[in-house]
Amino acid sequence: MSDPVWTEIDRYVTDLLAPHDEGLEAALRASVEAGLPQIQVSPPQGKLLQLLAQVRGAKSILELGTLGGYSTIWLARALPPGGRVVTVEADPRYAEVARASIERAGVGELVELRVGPALEVLPDLAAEEAGPFDLTFIDADKVNTPEYFAWALDHSASGGLIIADNVVRGGTLANPDSDDPNARAQRRLHEMLATEPRVSATTIQTVGSKGYDGFTLAMIR
Ligand code: SAH
Ligand code: DHB
Ligand code: MG
Repeated sequence: MSDPVWTEIDRYVTDLLAPHDEGLEAALRASVEAGLPQIQVSPPQGKLLQLLAQVRGAKSILELGTLGGYSTIWLARALPPGGRVVTVEADPRYAEVARASIERAGVGELVELRVGPALEVLPDLAAEEAGPFDLTFIDADKVNTPEYFAWALDHSASGGLIIADNVVRGGTLANPDSDDPNARAQRRLHEMLATEPRVSATTIQTVGSKGYDGFTLAMIR
């Protein structure tokens, strides 16, 4: 599902409210040149992540799914001095592109990039007591979003935010008969949220340059 108007509006909003600095622009260019899939958050979505981190006063951020580091840079730019983003990427080639872009953007000191499947890296982070996190952005393999959410819940600060990307993709979220494992995982996430007393959450559908999708925002009570 897509509409040229959605892209046009994203471009309009981007130009006025979410323009790229050199670091973000170079990160996108590097990602295209390296042949990475162009599935990073849109500029208005990157700006939303940054605003949420700032509203929360986040000092400690966790991201699952770095890709070329584009969303990482938006998030890192929200940090106060001494803050930290831990970002996890399974693909070593993507991680190398991200590492260079993060350095180039001048936020290398604030970002710790961990390479490996998140389900393997998260236990290491727990052992290192890397948390608690003020904001977690879940944007890796969608089938594991509920597992990542459960982990984030146990490693979030009180008042912390958890954002899960791509929960609506294809509009299958409300279809109980879908046999798409990704869609089923997003339903599992929502069922978990419905009965989880530790969080207050909602899901917002979105349209834009990335088509029709949506994200879940949860706050730890
Ligand atoms: N957050 C990025 C986009 C991430 S795209 C941005 O907006 O700029 C999803 C990323 O998750 C891809 O880079 C993919 O390689 C990575 N990924 C897939 N499975 C993963 C896993 N099991 N653990 C960590 N990362 C994973
Ligand atoms: C895909 C992944 C994403 O995180 C996203 O925002 C859009 C698409 C994908 O794997 O196709
Ligand atoms: Mg995404």
